Amino acid sequence: MNTKLFFGDATAFETPMLAVFAVDLATDKNEDPRPALLATASSFATAAKSLLESGEFKAGLGEMAVLHAPLGLKVERLLLVGLGKVKDFSADRIRKGAGTAVRAAKPRSVRGMAIASPETNALPADQTAKLSAALTARAIVEGAEIAQMDWDTYRSDRKDCSVDALTLISGEVTAAIQGDMQRGFDDGLLVAAAQNFTRSLVNEPGNVLTPTVLGARAKAMCDEAGLKCEVFSSAKLQELKMEAFWAVAKGSAEPPALIVMTYEPTAAPSAGSPVLGLVGKGITFDTGGISIKPADGMEKMKYDMAGAAAMIGAMHAIARLKPAVKVIAVVCSAENMPDGKAFKPGDVVTAMSGKTIEIVNTDAEGRLVLADGLHYAKTLGCTHLIDAATLTGACVIALGAINAGLFSNDEATCAKFESARAVSGEKFWRLPCTDDYRDHIKSEIADIMNTGKNRYGGATSAAMFLKEFAGDTPWVHLDIAGCAWHEDKKPWQAYGPSGIAVRSIVEWVRSFSV
Ligand code: BES
Ligand code: MN
Ligand code: ZN
Repeated sequence: MNTKLFFGDATAFETPMLAVFAVDLATDKNEDPRPALLATASSFATAAKSLLESGEFKAGLGEMAVLHAPLGLKVERLLLVGLGKVKDFSADRIRKGAGTAVRAAKPRSVRGMAIASPETNALPADQTAKLSAALTARAIVEGAEIAQMDWDTYRSDRKDCSVDALTLISGEVTAAIQGDMQRGFDDGLLVAAAQNFTRSLVNEPGNVLTPTVLGARAKAMCDEAGLKCEVFSSAKLQELKMEAFWAVAKGSAEPPALIVMTYEPTAAPSAGSPVLGLVGKGITFDTGGISIKPADGMEKMKYDMAGAAAMIGAMHAIARLKPAVKVIAVVCSAENMPDGKAFKPGDVVTAMSGKTIEIVNTDAEGRLVLADGLHYAKTLGCTHLIDAATLTGACVIALGAINAGLFSNDEATCAKFESARAVSGEKFWRLPCTDDYRDHIKSEIADIMNTGKNRYGGATSAAMFLKEFAGDTPWVHLDIAGCAWHEDKKPWQAYGPSGIAVRSIVEWVRSFSV
């Protein structure tokens, strides 16, 4: 999609479809909806007058109405997009609204469109301060670019309904605010491209995207972006004594991939500057291994590399945003298979860190590959760690598909993530991993075991396991099992991979930039 920012008058703009946002001003529960356009020009009010008066359009979130050949405007269609109640007005609502607009264009085969940036002076005074110009522009581009994707690449009957050109129109005249908008717009384009790249990786089935192919895709991205990338396999795992990672990998005919991507800032950082480690779980298919999963729903386990894909996507954005902080991404990729050579419950392995692990369940494989990934990142000099993984079903039980799990061993680093999350609009909910839970992973046989002693608090048990390998290094763990794949279609989002965590991780990295 060719996406542009244009400063000018939306009422004079010629396009096949122009989207304007509307909110419901009603504040009282019993009050009838009071839809109001977030565009103040009188030609919009005139064009939408009878529709708004009819009460048919309530400006609910994701609600739309199309007006053809509206008088007084230069557009073929005027699309009204609801953002919901005015009290809920936020960047996230704008992101969803922009997505709704683009997804409305697609089935109508509208190839060129425009979105009018919401005019905050159309809102009640207490709402106008909620958003900066930069965040507004950014949310619109992100929402639009993300909504543009449909994951029908493997459907031979698919029709290309992509929107070719999108213009974001703003009536802003102040140079400083225009500059802010342009910055937000540029950031949004870049970050959304990274998120879509992540989604394209997660979308691939396990037979196409093996660990080797994931390594090749990461390498190709890094070559293009000017990042250093090394892809290792079995021999390197032996050399580094990554027995935990190897235990998972060895049951598959597909060799594992240890992918290391490095971003060096332009100006060499001073000694003692932070080095950020991004560690991703890259299980390209998780059968459960010898502790095999039930057949029902197993096909979904091709998404078990979504954490790895998030880190690769984040590096894509980081290479272009060029923050002043060094970043190393470590992706541990393998296929978890049952086989004559596979690891077994009862096996004991020694992780790279020297800790011994009793394998109780081969389906708890993610924490094993991450154990070695986290430790390896530390040996590469990382001072702060963040990992993302589709780690536990228990996290899905706890938080559903709305919030992903967030765990940390360090308040300051976690607070930085919270601020990043506030910019990205992604939802993470913090769950505990305090030492009270250490007993969950105590083993009679080895230093620790790879499951909790029972099912209770399973997401925390997994986090406690990882925490052993983060050690004293400040660390954030994101359990994205419930949020990496959209089972539900929404007006602003397609079925399929979500690309969760990319935006927050990128923002977290930028917050270390000096
Ligand atoms: N990849 C799964 C996590 C998962 C499970 C995501 C179900 C979505 C739905 C992970 O490798 C796994 O199998 N975890 C086990 C751990 C258990 C054996 C301690 C789980 O959550 O059931
Ligand atoms: Mn598993
Ligand atoms: Zn898994």
